[in-house]
Amino acid sequence: MRSIFCVLALTLIVVSPSGEARVIPDPKQRPAPGNEARQTPIHQANYSPAVNYQLQCLGCHLTNGEGAPRSDIPMMQDFVGNFLKVKGGREFLIRVPGSSQSALSDSQLAELLNWILKDDGIAGGSAPKGFKPYTGKEVEAYRDKMIKDLPGYRLNLIEQIRDLNIDIPENVIP
Ligand code: HEC
Repeated sequence: MRSIFCVLALTLIVVSPSGEARVIPDPKQRPAPGNEARQTPIHQANYSPAVNYQLQCLGCHLTNGEGAPRSDIPMMQDFVGNFLKVKGGREFLIRVPGSSQSALSDSQLAELLNWILKDDGIAGGSAPKGFKPYTGKEVEAYRDKMIKDLPGYRLNLIEQIRDLNIDIPENVIP
């Protein structure tokens, strides 16, 4: 009996169409009616920082920057501005892969970081009062400087923040 099942299973595997065959694009395929225009790349689109956040960051950082510690996404909510208070922290927000490797232009990324850092934004008042806003030029200068030991670099910043007697919520260190 068991061997009949084996033969049946093998036959099904052999005769079923391979997964690959189904993903070959149909060269004659046309866009759905009303959908013919090419999509504008995000770095050329004029979306607001809030929309850019939704499109490029929210999937990991969630709506209010609460993060997902169980998936190693740290909480930014009411905390992320503290990075601006320590050495290496300002550039960290540009160089961290989620920022630096996003599809946003330099000025869009600068605008988005400033939006995150607003007192009534994700940073929730954690940024230093009257901090200098990021500019596209600053983003351009740091963006392609890869952080070699990312966990080590980040931990050092967290320790510097702790040295300022700032409480580090549990979800900031997932
Ligand atoms: C694929 C998931 C993912 C996406 C998408 C993502 N990030 Fe992140 N982000 C992380 C992780 C994980 C960290 C912690 C540092 C690390 O390991 O990269 C982080 C850290 C950060 C930090 C520093 C805060 C901290 O506590 O380390 C900032 C600022 C940040 N991200 C901004 C952004 C922005 C802005 C975007 C969208 C343009 C974005 N991220 C998209 C996963 C992501």
